[in-house]
Amino acid sequence: MKIDYSNILSENIGIRGIQKAEILKEEDLLKTVKNRILSRINDDYYPLNLPDAMLNEVREIKDYASNIKERFDNLVVIGMGGSILGNELLHYSINGVYSNLEKSKKIYFIDNIDPETNITLLRSLDLKKTFFNIITKSGSTSETLLNLLLLIDLFKKEGLNPKDHFLFTTDPEKGFLRKLSEELAIKTYPIHPKVGGRYSVLSHVGLFSAAFEDVNIEKLLLSAKKRKEKFLSKKPIEDSAMVFALIQYKFFREKGVNINVLFSYSDGLEYLGKFYEQLLAESIGKKFTRDGQEIHSGITPVVARGPYHQHSTLQLFMEGPYDKLIIFVAPNKFRKDIEIKKSLEHDEINFLSGKYYSELLLNEYIATKMALTQNGRPNVSIEIEKINEETLGELIYFLELEVLALGEILNINPIDQPSVEIGKKFTHALMGDKNYSEYLKTLEKLGNV
Ligand code: PA5
Repeated sequence: MKIDYSNILSENIGIRGIQKAEILKEEDLLKTVKNRILSRINDDYYPLNLPDAMLNEVREIKDYASNIKERFDNLVVIGMGGSILGNELLHYSINGVYSNLEKSKKIYFIDNIDPETNITLLRSLDLKKTFFNIITKSGSTSETLLNLLLLIDLFKKEGLNPKDHFLFTTDPEKGFLRKLSEELAIKTYPIHPKVGGRYSVLSHVGLFSAAFEDVNIEKLLLSAKKRKEKFLSKKPIEDSAMVFALIQYKFFREKGVNINVLFSYSDGLEYLGKFYEQLLAESIGKKFTRDGQEIHSGITPVVARGPYHQHSTLQLFMEGPYDKLIIFVAPNKFRKDIEIKKSLEHDEINFLSGKYYSELLLNEYIATKMALTQNGRPNVSIEIEKINEETLGELIYFLELEVLALGEILNINPIDQPSVEIGKKFTHALMGDKNYSEYLKTLEKLGNV
């Protein structure tokens, strides 16, 4: 993975850029940030230990996934937010957007409760040949439980035993799903109490479905582990994740850049954008009090895919307010490519003949980057050789580490999500859950009941 920070510098983008010296002078700040991360690595920042911890589980996960593959044709993963986004990321990036069409064993994701979508999927699948991985750390997320209830009903109607068709991935001790797993004798995978949804892709949460679809989870973890070792051994001022967090911070605090666009030049990597969207927004978007004043802070993530978004939002990125940092992510090579033959003889299109799809796409990436730079728009490029387990393992670890570092620089807690939790409680109350009736009073006050 190569990161190019040159297009944030004043020498390339003019007055809206920063000087290299401004980064270098923060060496002490980054040392403090690294020490703070290390002091919490076996506690709140335990996700940074997942590569080592999960390498011991690879054999069992792979054996179980092969067993499920022998018995079933489809795997459906059900979860919300961090309990499914990492699974989708690994699927769409490593195996590809349409990989189900190429494979005999298919994988599907239920990440919402739109009845039209879910009915279409479930009606199309043969339940006898389908296995379900239900993922919820809390074991109480309404959307996930609603989907589960529907399935139990369908299973009853078909006379199938849920025990043979379900895997629950949840808290090792607490929560409704844990209780239900005991009642129905369903196999479970645990989610470490210190691993929150958006930091869980390298745990059982992301690894089982990846193993089912032949992702080499060992390579994925080994690459993430290598990135961890780099973090441990490098000076923080030489660590790309630490420096990237500092750049985001400097543009945010000193230049009013409060929007970060993750612009990936690959269809599969659009899910890296969605993954990062949650990681950054839930980790950094926080309210806190300083000197008696309530402060609302955060960087808004935007997901873009090239060249697709060159024909929509790019106009705004080029000429709109100077409030955006663009983060390009692009592979140097595509694993499949198409050469365009001279199928028509016309001056207007002859320039495309004999060229490869990837050539046009990557030239568009370079052209967009150069045009933004010329317009004084700060941008960072993350380039990977090609999309695979090695590059994804490194990228995922890099992004998680970078967001934790940003939280530390901003002096906020990057691992909680209090407002997501309160929304969940209000939903329970509105749906008539007596355990949450105390929240009805607040809703009444707000005039919503
Ligand atoms: O990152 C997070 O913590 C959240 O996005 C959760 O993953 C999401 O709300 C789902 O929660 P749970 O796993 O408890 O169902």
